[in-house]
Amino acid sequence: MRDYPLIDCTKKYHSIMVFDKNKNVLVHRWYPFVEGYSKEFIEDILQELPFIPQCAMEPFCGSGTTPVELQNHGIRCYSFEVSPFMHLLAKVKLERTYDEAILKSYRDKVAEALSNPENDIRSLEAIPFGDTVVKKNGLSKWNFHDTSLDGILDIRHAIRTKVEDERYKNLFTIALASIILQTSNMFRNGKCLSYKKGWSDRIIARNEVHNLFLEKIDTVIAEDVRILTEQSSDIHNSEICNLGDVRKNIDKVPDNSLDLIITSPPYLNSRDYTDIYMLELKVLELVNSHEDLQALRKSTIRSHVQVKYSDINPIDNSRLKQCLKDMKKSDAKSWNSDILNMICGYFEDMQLLFSEFAKKMRSGGVIYFNVANSAYFGVEVPVDYIIGDIAEDCGFTVREIRKARDLKTSPQQSGLVGKLRESVLVIDKI
Ligand SMILES: C[S@@+](CC[C@H](N)C(=O)[O-])C[C@H]1O[C@@H](n2cnc3c(N)ncnc32)[C@H](O)[C@@H]1O
Repeated sequence: MRDYPLIDCTKKYHSIMVFDKNKNVLVHRWYPFVEGYSKEFIEDILQELPFIPQCAMEPFCGSGTTPVELQNHGIRCYSFEVSPFMHLLAKVKLERTYDEAILKSYRDKVAEALSNPENDIRSLEAIPFGDTVVKKNGLSKWNFHDTSLDGILDIRHAIRTKVEDERYKNLFTIALASIILQTSNMFRNGKCLSYKKGWSDRIIARNEVHNLFLEKIDTVIAEDVRILTEQSSDIHNSEICNLGDVRKNIDKVPDNSLDLIITSPPYLNSRDYTDIYMLELKVLELVNSHEDLQALRKSTIRSHVQVKYSDINPIDNSRLKQCLKDMKKSDAKSWNSDILNMICGYFEDMQLLFSEFAKKMRSGGVIYFNVANSAYFGVEVPVDYIIGDIAEDCGFTVREIRKARDLKTSPQQSGLVGKLRESVLVIDKI
């Protein structure tokens, strides 16, 4: 167990480790993603590498920043994503064969359908699954007012019936996804969705919902497709993003093929991406039952407590074992064994992944691994150091740990532990 060089890179990284910088960037701006880094992080890595990578991997694709940027540089990238919504988003952003004129003709067909919506849209389009989607007897809160939901269902119906080409169907679906939260009664509040202030009086008319959608197509999407059409001879579709649990699908990557891995796995912070993107998953009919939901949660990395696991033994790591011991000693009121199981499951997942990375990466390859430390029951878990140990146990060498930012602790932990380090591990396969 080594003491890895810890380098302060906060100056360089503090602004590029957030998606915000992508907000106005071609293609990346199609859907605002909160939990990702910016394209500058990828560019910075490509600049510092002493070689031109031939084949890369992003095991936790999210909104697709890594594969999209690598594709822009002509670098092949295998990517994996378990959430069908994130997968669709990455797929749409990786597609490079859009055509301005075709986009316009589908846009006009959809706009025409929306100008004369069906009277009884709910007989044609199913209401998204769930008990709290719209107002009904006995509910005190609901996700969408009727007018918003009908406006959304009109758009979903128009896309389904008027857009034959799968690529444009997907593109329009992402445009719809980008207005779902805005037209709902909810907002993303860290780890969950909460109700907006004054939501009950904030009614959006059905045609206002249509207008928001068409505006999205007419502005950012049309502008970017025009630029992509001009670029299309230079940039080609590279590897597609694979839908599914990377722990089960990584075999799709040939052994000894990778010279670069860039990723940011779910942090060990009890955040369940399924919860945060629940409205998109439901409205786009990507999750249609409690069984679908549970199956999706079970396929995610064990970084949250939404799935109950039977007791998991910790991997053989003294830093981890010390943390667990300290937590068990703590008298914190919220002590619960689900959290300890989550922590053990998380590192077991990391161990499995790094043993696969070791097979897939050729010598000379580099891994950039963006993680953050966590705190539970007043004990800080040095996630970056433990992952460094796991990587070294699998035959890699940790070159350095770069401190990227200080993150705030949760309200329960503040006062017990200080700020939590977010870092980038740079790991070599010698
Ligand atoms: C921190 S985000 C990745 C952000 C991404 N680097 C970006 O900048 O957009 C982590 C992603 O991992 C995905 N994920 C969680 N468990 C997974 C699994 N078992 N296999 C593949 N993806 C998974 C989540 O759905 C989420 O989109």
